[in-house]
Amino acid sequence: MQACELAFLILLTVVSCSKQYEELPQTTLTLEPPFPEIFTGETVTLRCGVEGGSTGWKYLWYKDSEDTPGLQTAGCSITGDSYTITAAAVSDQGQYFCRGQRKSRPSFSQLSDEVTVTVSDQWVILQTPPQPVFEGDTLTLRCHVWGYTATRFVFYKDNKWLQSQADTELSVDRVSKSDEGSYKCTARWSSTYSGDSAEVRVSVREGRPKPALTREPAGKIFDGDTITLSCVVEGGSGGWRYLWYKDRQGAPVYQTDSSSGTGAGYTISAAALSHSGEYWCGAGRGRNTSYSQYSDPIWVNVTALFSRVTLTASPGATVKEGEALNLTCEAAVNKNPRPQLHYTIVRDGEPVTNSTDSALYSIASTEKSHTGSYTCAVESQGVRKSSQELHIELQKSWSWIIAALSVSLVLIVIHSPLLSPPQSPVTAVHVTDTPSTSSGDEILYSVIDLKNAKPAKPRPKRDCDVLYSAVLVKTPEVKEEGPQG
Ligand SMILES: *[C@@H]1O[C@H](CO)[C@@H](O)[C@H](O)[C@H]1NC(C)=O
Ligand SMILES: *[C@@H]1O[C@H](CO)[C@@H](O)[C@H](O)[C@H]1NC(C)=O
Ligand SMILES: *[C@@H]1O[C@H](CO)[C@@H](O)[C@H](O)[C@H]1NC(C)=O
Ligand SMILES: *[C@@H]1O[C@H](CO)[C@@H](O)[C@H](O)[C@H]1NC(C)=O
Repeated sequence: MQACELAFLILLTVVSCSKQYEELPQTTLTLEPPFPEIFTGETVTLRCGVEGGSTGWKYLWYKDSEDTPGLQTAGCSITGDSYTITAAAVSDQGQYFCRGQRKSRPSFSQLSDEVTVTVSDQWVILQTPPQPVFEGDTLTLRCHVWGYTATRFVFYKDNKWLQSQADTELSVDRVSKSDEGSYKCTARWSSTYSGDSAEVRVSVREGRPKPALTREPAGKIFDGDTITLSCVVEGGSGGWRYLWYKDRQGAPVYQTDSSSGTGAGYTISAAALSHSGEYWCGAGRGRNTSYSQYSDPIWVNVTALFSRVTLTASPGATVKEGEALNLTCEAAVNKNPRPQLHYTIVRDGEPVTNSTDSALYSIASTEKSHTGSYTCAVESQGVRKSSQELHIELQKSWSWIIAALSVSLVLIVIHSPLLSPPQSPVTAVHVTDTPSTSSGDEILYSVIDLKNAKPAKPRPKRDCDVLYSAVLVKTPEVKEEGPQG
């Protein structure tokens, strides 16, 4: 180990930049044998593993500082994913960690948890796995003797006798908080020779750590907003991989079109109604152990920015040629304060207005080209909503028909033999049918009811030879088309 030259690479800048933009795979560091305390002269192998397989990865090994990976030169202790400390010396003590590096992206893995290697010059040591041990894990204690073959091993917990056995290893299955304490062991290699280890504190982390989940912004969320969920593991020393769940636990969600989970944050860049739901996070590290509990759930309820967009025509959807027409667009906005809106009124696919401050399309005098199908689109913070279609129709002026009718009436009056003596006037004429023809100068009615005519008097020979005191022309009502809401 001493003979190995350390070549230093300054990689930190590169690493911290790439870390921000992509999710780096998880890295685990394990020990063989699994005890970080060893005797001088012993051998321990550190193994680095990158989540998702070993293909293409080289491994960078760090001791005590993550600023400079100590890259061992050829012939030294690195083979593949392993770093071996052979003939350990006190100078090999320290914190070790690793990460993967490769040519393809992501070109780095996360930094592994550190493992503190201690090199002891005692006769007997009690070896324990890296601390803390999580509740439910198996705790393996080894009473390790330097140089001699002991025959009996006695384990103590908090200075109380626990177990006497021939095996060096004592396993405690499914540890709980009550297993926490100070352990030591005594090794006997004859009836007279024995040695005691130092006391070793074993701490048990109760349960799986429960991450805390927070949401930004905390208030009401509208579509188009950016939402960030953050997952924090209390007392975690880093190296966690975060898992995100939506609507149900069990199957984590990964990246979708507009959302991504990167490390401890889950970002929805443009919230849509489909992002509404219940979210949890979890965190995990190690190969198979120490998955955290689920966080408490957090609700993301995305509210529509616009509840409706309406386009209305004034005076109506059917206008007389030459008349003024106003098309007004209205958006019911749920967000308060109201965001800046952008209105576009479109006729048959072509925008006719495009404005940030006005929702009015005003035509002073309508003509044929103004007819068509109109919609209004409102846009704000990337969210767009359109109104329903509104069909604008132009109506030929009825004034010439009325003029023609007046002329006919005048002619009728002039030619009437009933002019004198004056008849008792018919006070009302009710036309029960629409004109059957309206072309040319003539208007023909299929039925004309005469009301208030004296029944005793002989009926006029011709229906037309009467004096009309009033003419009520009923035209079919023009139905307004288009949406009202
Ligand atoms: C992972 O842990 C579970 C329960 O703790 C166990 O049943 C399973 O066999 C483990 N898997 C591996 C690959 O070690
Ligand atoms: C979100 O919606 C769900 C279901 O509609 C409801 O149970 C929950 O209380 C809502 N949460 C918030 C914060 O509005
Ligand atoms: C159209 O809008 C303008 C401005 O608000 C108003 O002066 C005008 O009277 C409106 N015309 C119609 C036909 O509604
Ligand atoms: C509306 O105007 C903006 C700029 O003012 C322009 O970018 C946009 O393309 C226009 N939209 C339409 C539909 O004309």
